[in-house]
Amino acid sequence: MSSEKPQPAKLAIPWRTRLVLTMISAATDLSRRSNGTINRRLLNLLDFKSSPSPNKPIHSIISSDITVNPTRNLWFRLYTPENSGVDGSDTASLPVVVFFHGGGFSFLSAASSSYDVVCRRFARKFPAIVLSVNYRLTPEHRFPCQYDDGLDVLQFLDNDRVRANRLLPPNADLSKCFLVGDSAGANLAHHVAVRACRAGFQNVKVIGLVSIQPYFGGQERTKSELQLVGYPFVTVERTDWCWRVFLPDGSDRDHYAVNVSGPNAENISDLDFPDTMVIVGGFDPLQDWQRRYYEWLKRSGKEATLIEYPNMFHAFYIFPELPEASQLFSEVKEFVAKRLSKL
Ligand SMILES: *[C@@H]1O[C@H](CO)[C@@H](O)[C@H](O)[C@H]1NC(C)=O
Ligand SMILES: *[C@@H]1O[C@H](CO)[C@@H](O)[C@H](O)[C@H]1NC(C)=O
Ligand SMILES: *[C@@H]1O[C@H](CO)[C@@H](O)[C@H](O)[C@H]1NC(C)=O
Repeated sequence: MSSEKPQPAKLAIPWRTRLVLTMISAATDLSRRSNGTINRRLLNLLDFKSSPSPNKPIHSIISSDITVNPTRNLWFRLYTPENSGVDGSDTASLPVVVFFHGGGFSFLSAASSSYDVVCRRFARKFPAIVLSVNYRLTPEHRFPCQYDDGLDVLQFLDNDRVRANRLLPPNADLSKCFLVGDSAGANLAHHVAVRACRAGFQNVKVIGLVSIQPYFGGQERTKSELQLVGYPFVTVERTDWCWRVFLPDGSDRDHYAVNVSGPNAENISDLDFPDTMVIVGGFDPLQDWQRRYYEWLKRSGKEATLIEYPNMFHAFYIFPELPEASQLFSEVKEFVAKRLSKL
């Protein structure tokens, strides 16, 4: 078989990581029904959650849950490094990271333990004020609910009432806003970035987008989708199921939400689109879509950086035991610092 990029021979990961991967895949497959519904009761038992910790910092980060719209249970978990001027002390302004978790638009939440750890790590590492958005999930809430929720959080932040009510710490600088997401969360972050460019915000300025192994697709099967069979999380069967329960009835996967750089793509050439970092793993069947996304950003005249992890699989960075996960946090930190230095 010929391929331009030689594939790494074997995925080498610790057995403990492999065990957790197998458990997560089994949990999602068990709760996913062939009639396009999800057994939420079963899934809730298997999706381990963490509570916010508003009074006791964990690794020097405090966290709390803030409601945006109670009628549809839209909220975010706010992560604040200690000494963020909450006590009136004078501290330097910090960028604001709006984070979207992955899970095929169907699974997980801002309270899921693995994302709680990830967000605290971002907050400490950059450092930054991090907001992890609890957007609505499909199939109960289909496209474009997730994008609406993402934009509504930015709209909420843009409102002067947020500052007046001290919902964010005093040193949160909304003119230095980054959107960060992985997998479906990176798809969401992209589409929210496009909408934010058109929204005409007063206070919120999105200056960077970190797209960690984004979940994009299309009708066509790419080489990586066909060749990378049996690797963690992503299978064509799973991604097809998730797209089917996400998209409006009658749409195929060349919808602009999925085939983001395809024939129905939104034209972003004229938008003030944020500088973007795209992260790709060599064992991720979605990688061809992700590279196309990067190339399309460049073709559209945008500032984009591609970072490759040849030996890593989809969602590897939620496993803190992997050295490549630490490397990713450092590279994202570098991207954020570089973007801030351009201001
Ligand atoms: C889907 O299947 C589940 C379990 O068999 C059932 O409870 C549910 O009502 C079905 N939903 C639809 C929309 O068919
Ligand atoms: C997506 O867009 C590309 C580029 O226009 C096109 O070649 C492809 O057929 C479309 N669909 C898929 C699934 O790639
Ligand atoms: C996108 O818009 C720009 C400017 O309006 C135009 O020059 C370009 O041809 C458009 N690209 C596509 C693919 O339609």
